[in-house]
Amino acid sequence: MHAHGSSPASRPAAPPRAQAGLARARILGTGAFLPPFVRTNRDLERLVDTSDAWITERTGIRERRLAPEGTTTSDMGAIAALAALDMAGLRATDLDLIVVATVTPDMPMPSAAALVQHKIGAGPCPAFDIGAACAGFIFALTVAEQFIRTGKRHRVLVVGGDTLTKFLDWTDRKTCILFGDGAGAVVLGSDVAVDAQDRPRGVLSTSLSTDGSLVPALYIPGGGSAHPPSAATVEGRLHFIRMNGQEIFKHAIKNLVSASHAALDDAGMTTAGIDWVCAHQANKRILDQVAIRLGTAPDRMLSNIDRVGNTSSASIPILLDESVRAGKIKDGDTVLMSALGAGVSWGGAVVRM
Ligand code: ACO
Repeated sequence: MHAHGSSPASRPAAPPRAQAGLARARILGTGAFLPPFVRTNRDLERLVDTSDAWITERTGIRERRLAPEGTTTSDMGAIAALAALDMAGLRATDLDLIVVATVTPDMPMPSAAALVQHKIGAGPCPAFDIGAACAGFIFALTVAEQFIRTGKRHRVLVVGGDTLTKFLDWTDRKTCILFGDGAGAVVLGSDVAVDAQDRPRGVLSTSLSTDGSLVPALYIPGGGSAHPPSAATVEGRLHFIRMNGQEIFKHAIKNLVSASHAALDDAGMTTAGIDWVCAHQANKRILDQVAIRLGTAPDRMLSNIDRVGNTSSASIPILLDESVRAGKIKDGDTVLMSALGAGVSWGGAVVRM
């Protein structure tokens, strides 16, 4: 958020507090990328038996972006990363860790993070992926934050990116209306910082959970070691998302609220201290229910679901970046994040910008 002076190309020296192992991970810059191709609800009316009115009313989504053929998760992640680095006033060579949250890497191996590292021209820092589906960004933020807190790393890129539209059955109206593609990024720094009221800035707390008994509620059965790609898996449409929408809906409301409370408790805060809620954009009705249960005023709930749909791991960092660049989220504002996705995995975070 603040422009920092460019650091030397070599790895930056650890700030004093980070060396003592007490650093807090602060967001120095945000970035996002949305592919230009728009698919509206009207376009979907021509593909499946649905209507603009049904989709808008049941989900709040009006249009979504699709990555064209040849555009990958790491392509989008690299663009988002460069925007975040630019806002932070840093160069790619300043990074000492790259974590990418995705369940749609460019290929089974290597990681999308390795590809992002190469595309942005970062040095040979560790780079790896984290897969927690729509909750991926909170998981990746938590892992990155732990590296900074322990003083092991000082300039960390966290990317959330997914191209789930490439794994949608465009004849299944229950899933193909929901998702869009995109990527978002944050650059975290270990600098000691306080806001104008002398409160600490950065990631104040996070909370993570997974309940593997709920795997059948949302998954892609084919393409992995259970069903390696073959003519039979393609014929059986095993490479597409399968979802029990009502089950996910129910767990999303309950667990976005519980993750929010867990993160708030850990930060020693209540919703009264929160300026903005930046929750995963899955369904406007889920967000409305979460706002009611948290007691959050509707105008504090950030949302872009009407324009982008559910972008999975990219959802929170894209919304964060849009809100920062629009001047809504300002330095010192406290943001409550929460997300839920396949696994089922969910998490929350409290971040002071
Ligand atoms: N257009 C028109 N009718 C539809 C459509 C559609 N696109 N999709 C389903 N319907 C029909 C159903 O067939 C059903 O018809 P029937 O009563 O004749 O059988 C009727 O609408 C109601 O179906 P429901 O599944 O009960 O609809 P619901 O109100 O639950 O909405 C939805 C479905 C939008 C999928 C909702 O359950 C949802 O959003 N769930 C959360 C899923 C989600 O967000 N997944 C993303 C990944 S996880 C995450 O990000 C949190």
